[in-house]
Amino acid sequence: MYRLDRLSDTISHITSSIPYPDTQFQFASVTNGNVALLQIFKNQGWGIHANTPGDIYLALAAGFTPDRIVYSGSNLDRDEMRQVLAWGIHTINLDSLSQLELLGDIYSAEDAKPLLGLRLNFPALTGESRIGVHPDQFGQAIEIARQAGLTLDGIHFYRGTGTNATQAFTDAIDPILSIASQLPDWSYLDFGGGFGYPYHHDKAAFDWVEFGQILSEKLSKLDQKIQLTIEPGRAAIAESAVLLARVVSTKWQGQKQIIGVDTTVANLSVPSVHGGYREIVGWNNSDELFTTDVCGNTTYSRDYLGRNCQLPRLKIDDIISILDVGAYGYAMSSHFLHRPRPAEALLDNSHHRLIRGREDYSILLTGQIF
Ligand SMILES: Cc1ncc(COP(=O)(O)O)c(C=O)c1O
Repeated sequence: MYRLDRLSDTISHITSSIPYPDTQFQFASVTNGNVALLQIFKNQGWGIHANTPGDIYLALAAGFTPDRIVYSGSNLDRDEMRQVLAWGIHTINLDSLSQLELLGDIYSAEDAKPLLGLRLNFPALTGESRIGVHPDQFGQAIEIARQAGLTLDGIHFYRGTGTNATQAFTDAIDPILSIASQLPDWSYLDFGGGFGYPYHHDKAAFDWVEFGQILSEKLSKLDQKIQLTIEPGRAAIAESAVLLARVVSTKWQGQKQIIGVDTTVANLSVPSVHGGYREIVGWNNSDELFTTDVCGNTTYSRDYLGRNCQLPRLKIDDIISILDVGAYGYAMSSHFLHRPRPAEALLDNSHHRLIRGREDYSILLTGQIF
């Protein structure tokens, strides 16, 4: 269940935090590909950051025009690269010289000329990462692009996901600006995603206002006019959703309450599979809390939606709420364990509407040939 007010407020907060005038915001839809939600970002003036051609496909279905889509991905095959060009995507950030060569090979004068950038690999800033091109290879990259009739216009930086330390981003600004200025045709900086969200509600959160002010000041002082792209994923959408589950079974093991609910770990990126933490809330009329494991409706040994949570005594048909599941939630759900996936609904004040139907067992046969 998504809350429109929460999502809209977060989008507005991030947007207003960055005063630099030439800024475009692209929602990183790797975190959530629900078209109805993508349209909310569109209505608030954001574009889409696509990680894969599938992200582009969903963005086009949501009504984004190709000039509102930034692609920064990895390892496209020839047909996919051709497709990205054929879609006329406005900005393409590539991950390797080999992908750049492939693009150069396919690109022809009939294609819309993209703004072209490189994803940065610079361990001191990006950590040890498989992604990106080291500045030592910029000379080669410029030459590959030139031979194809293209220019290298931008740098794409990705700090790594879920970073709540604001300084980890602000400290990187000067070195990135200095690296980017090595590109003779430099015209844009994509400062990526990776901005954290405080799943532990009592812990420090990424400070958008501080980040936006420092980044804007530094960009404004440059001799040249640089266009800025910001592509938040989880920071934009994590908070907007809860997964509601119904209690279907209760038992006690000593002092510990064991709750079985009508959903499974496959519907969510949860601690037991992907790391991380989600707060779980339950209600009854008593204030007394018990250490509780919340278990999914399979016997998979890691099917825990939460462990050692503090919850009231629960009974069958009570509802619990797993918080902050808007990012990497439904998007990472799967048919592992062969449970059809839940519905998604959007709550707009007191009205709600279905934005994805609940699956039934027939989904498990889709595509199977027997
Ligand atoms: C290039 C790029 N930008 C943005 C994102 C979104 O990341 P986050 O949710 O950490 O903001 C990703 C996630 O994989 C990414 O690869």
